[in-house]
Amino acid sequence: MSLRTAALSVTLLLLVLSEVWAQNPRKRMAPPKPPKAQCCDEVRSLKVQVANLTSLLEELNRKQETDMMNVVRQMMELDKQNRQQEARVTEAESKYSEINNRVEIMQLQASQSVTQSSSDAIYDCASLYNKNYKISGEYKLPADEFLGTPELDVFCDMESNGGGWTLIQRRKVGLTSFNRDWKQYKNGFGTIRGDFWLGNDNLFRMTRQPSTLRIEMEDWEGETRYAEYSYFTVKNELNSFKLLIANYSGNAGDSLRYHNNTNFSTKGKDNDKCVDDCASLRKGGYWYNCCTDSNLNGVFYRYGNHGKNTDGITWYGWHGPNYSLKRVEMKIRPQNFKS
Ligand SMILES: *[C@@H]1O[C@H](CO)[C@@H](O)[C@H](O)[C@H]1NC(C)=O
Ligand SMILES: *[C@@H]1O[C@H](CO)[C@@H](O)[C@H](O)[C@H]1NC(C)=O
Ligand SMILES: *[C@@H]1O[C@H](CO)[C@@H](O)[C@H](O)[C@H]1NC(C)=O
Ligand SMILES: *[C@@H]1O[C@H](CO)[C@@H](O)[C@H](O)[C@H]1NC(C)=O
Ligand SMILES: *[C@@H]1O[C@H](CO)[C@@H](O)[C@H](O)[C@H]1NC(C)=O
Repeated sequence: MSLRTAALSVTLLLLVLSEVWAQNPRKRMAPPKPPKAQCCDEVRSLKVQVANLTSLLEELNRKQETDMMNVVRQMMELDKQNRQQEARVTEAESKYSEINNRVEIMQLQASQSVTQSSSDAIYDCASLYNKNYKISGEYKLPADEFLGTPELDVFCDMESNGGGWTLIQRRKVGLTSFNRDWKQYKNGFGTIRGDFWLGNDNLFRMTRQPSTLRIEMEDWEGETRYAEYSYFTVKNELNSFKLLIANYSGNAGDSLRYHNNTNFSTKGKDNDKCVDDCASLRKGGYWYNCCTDSNLNGVFYRYGNHGKNTDGITWYGWHGPNYSLKRVEMKIRPQNFKS
């Protein structure tokens, strides 16, 4: 029994007693009645009153108890809500700081060249990954005096299939023309966060170590496919940036095989194996054979126009010659990379 119910019981008991005391003197002063009757009437009435009060008391007790229970339950409920609220705030705070942290790391990456010791040089995103840079984004590869290579901005994919990928090409925005000349394809063009070609000189330099090529693509229905070549090399400019690939795997079809062992061609530099000028027919720079089984540097066509032209961003093994893809990324990493 709680304190409050105890107090109430005492109060009611006092009420009963005071009634008894109040009645007794009156009764005593009243004219004498047959003592037995008076005694019994009085006792009976008191008994009834006591019974009534007792039941009332019990009822009140019950009511109070349930009231108390309800109050306690409400307080517990409030406490629970409070704790839930607190948990939610804590969660939000930690999420916020996580995001903040991520942003800071990204800014650091963008603003700082990664420092380098001569013993383990940084050539690409795989070496960055092995130095524990595991967030995808833009990085600056340091110049290498020994190799005679300049500083280079790259985009690293640290997530797909184990990470460590250096992007060499991306098509997704569609505002950058890929119908460019030899020199532009040699040096690279575009913006590293948007559409770009990393540059054939860089491809040659980076694929001197045995490399793997991964091509990821997306169509206008939002479906994705990929093609991977565990062997990928681009020769130097003297050898017309010739392409060598082998060991296809993936679910997009082997549509680069046809371009294997061919020189690079651009607008104004026809190195293809055709009487036609494939670069001007397909409006891009690529390892044109005669002419294409894929045309990843073709014209970007938006939804609605993507299924009409043969000079689009095509991959015959998936959508045939007349379907221009919505998004493409070409990326490389060393064959011996382990995540
Ligand atoms: C108890 O008290 C109530 C209210 O005073 C009255 O209506 C009822 O008849 C009483 N019951 C008995 C058994 O006296
Ligand atoms: C292709 O894969 C096979 C089996 O793993 C390997 O023996 C061969 O050397 C690979 N070819 C090239 C060109 O890397
Ligand atoms: C590719 O280029 C090299 C030199 O740059 C040349 O010797 C060779 O004949 C070319 N191959 C084809 C098929 O045009
Ligand atoms: C590509 O050409 C090279 C050189 O001729 C050859 O070794 C390799 O097996 C070819 N790759 C494919 C997929 O046919
Ligand atoms: C692709 O377009 C060309 C020219 O517009 C047409 O001749 C050809 O039949 C089309 N091919 C397919 C598979 O739709």
